[in-house]
Amino acid sequence: MNALKENMNVPQHIAIIMDGNGRWAKQHNKSRIEGHKKGAQQIKKVLDGARKFGVKYITLYAFSSENWNRPKVEVSALMHLLEKSIKANEKDFIKNEVRFETIGDISALPSYCQKAIAKIKKSTQHFNKQTLILALNYGSRDEITRVVKKLITSAENNEISSKDITWECIQQNLDTAHIPDPDLIIRTSGEKRLSNYLMLQAAYAEFYFTDILWPDFDEQHLHDAIQEYANRERRYGLTSEQIQKQC
Ligand code: FPP
Repeated sequence: MNALKENMNVPQHIAIIMDGNGRWAKQHNKSRIEGHKKGAQQIKKVLDGARKFGVKYITLYAFSSENWNRPKVEVSALMHLLEKSIKANEKDFIKNEVRFETIGDISALPSYCQKAIAKIKKSTQHFNKQTLILALNYGSRDEITRVVKKLITSAENNEISSKDITWECIQQNLDTAHIPDPDLIIRTSGEKRLSNYLMLQAAYAEFYFTDILWPDFDEQHLHDAIQEYANRERRYGLTSEQIQKQC
């Protein structure tokens, strides 16, 4: 494993679309569920690596608002895997001072998942060394729909008027209100799309696509993604010359 160069521009927040569990399972003559299990095991490795590299926030697309449409048996296995993974990792999170958060509407998850989530959120709420955010029953379209409903209700109650609707106001009502926008979005398995993930938050994110399937994605692959990110110039609508002057 190569170390990251000193003074390298490490992303503060990496969001990952963990894709390819099913294809990994097929390649290894295993069931899709076995693919998800191996995928779940990679999370700890990537989280440990991210901590070592100095990445403060990691957001993982664990279950999208569209994933409910998968076969019932797969959805159920993913929910049980979620509960099991949370319980198995809680001690480790406390030891490493990792805060656990979620985005998405978790009220639709089975109660045993909600219970495990509430417990780990409470036991890690004071930590700020690193934050793991699981996107669960998350989709950007659902998120923005919830924001609009909330703001309209506030307007109907005369708490806000149209002049209060700014980007900052919308941002403060997103699920990610207290989380900085992702600097880098990684998608594994060769697919090159956002799939309803952090669509507003990704406005100025850098993208990194790799053919590696999620169950094979490890610390070295994360290292490679960060290294490529460090060589990118983020311009936020400015010219390259303007950016150089700021440095
Ligand atoms: C995409 O692979 C992966 C998911 C839809 C779920 C991600 C879940 C894990 C990494 C396991 C851990 C889960 C929890 C809930 C902690 P895919 O099934 O779409 O793969 P394919 O495109 O190759 O079929």
